[in-house]
Amino acid sequence: MALLLPEALYGQRPSLLARDLELELDPWQAEALNDRHGRTLLNCARQSGKSTVMALKATWYALFQPGSLSLVCAPTQDQSDELLAVIHRLYRTLGKPVALTAENVRSLRLLSGSRIVSLPGDARPADHVRGFSNVNLMCIDEAARTSDELVEAVRPMLAVSGGQIVASSTPAGKRGWWYQAWMDASQDWRRVEVPATACSRIPAAFLERERRELGERHFNAEYCCSFEENETALFPESVLEQLADPEVQDWSGWLHADDLDKGAVGSGSFAHR
Ligand SMILES: Nc1ncnc2c1ncn2[C@@H]1O[C@H](COP(=O)(O)OP(=O)(O)O)[C@@H](O)[C@H]1O
Ligand SMILES: [Mg+2]
Repeated sequence: MALLLPEALYGQRPSLLARDLELELDPWQAEALNDRHGRTLLNCARQSGKSTVMALKATWYALFQPGSLSLVCAPTQDQSDELLAVIHRLYRTLGKPVALTAENVRSLRLLSGSRIVSLPGDARPADHVRGFSNVNLMCIDEAARTSDELVEAVRPMLAVSGGQIVASSTPAGKRGWWYQAWMDASQDWRRVEVPATACSRIPAAFLERERRELGERHFNAEYCCSFEENETALFPESVLEQLADPEVQDWSGWLHADDLDKGAVGSGSFAHR
């Protein structure tokens, strides 16, 4: 390999790859790259560098884990292909350290047997994803906007290989598997939060303007890692969650036919068994 440092060093510390790319990683990016925890959620502001980290991680797996399979996935096939395009660029900038066997918009295949494949995370992801097994790395970009079905299809593929899953996103409301995974402390995930203020590449003046123009709620979601209520929803998500809770017996304080007609919700509290 025509890299700056001895190959064994990159194997131990994936973040060293950034030197060859003349990229100065933020501390959280270096940590996410070096981390081998099985399951990681990156809750990051827009433009903070989360796709870059996932592209670097997939590139590292392809180069330093011969025969490995990495899947990159985003809500649509176009977005997944875009992430793969970043990986192609990184691989070329590194000087193609391992020879190619095939390169196209959907995959990168190396002579070492390593593969990176891009998949869509939308409508019926299970159909696309199920064909793969022994996955070493699963990267899910914009994960808050991928379907619950996707993560259900992915879980078994990592079981045998002991593979890693990294799911990065900007929050998209209080719903979906990624939100649940972030909130539910009983689920074993490493959780990393990166607000825009922690990213030196995003100027404070830009953020101030965004806050003024987007409004507080939208700004908090985009730049402050915050799960905000859906503005157009008739009921807050917290109320809908409790509606599904068999423990909750008494709705009288909340739901009145008259209020529903007016599109309003009562302000009472729930009675639990
Ligand atoms: N450590 C870094 N140093 C310099 N530029 C970076 C770094 N991380 C990301 N970038 C650049 O910042 C921009 C946004 O990064 P990206 O990974 O696409 O952000 P996100 O996916 O969080 O929106 C891209 O142009 C990317 O190349
Ligand atoms: Mg991105």
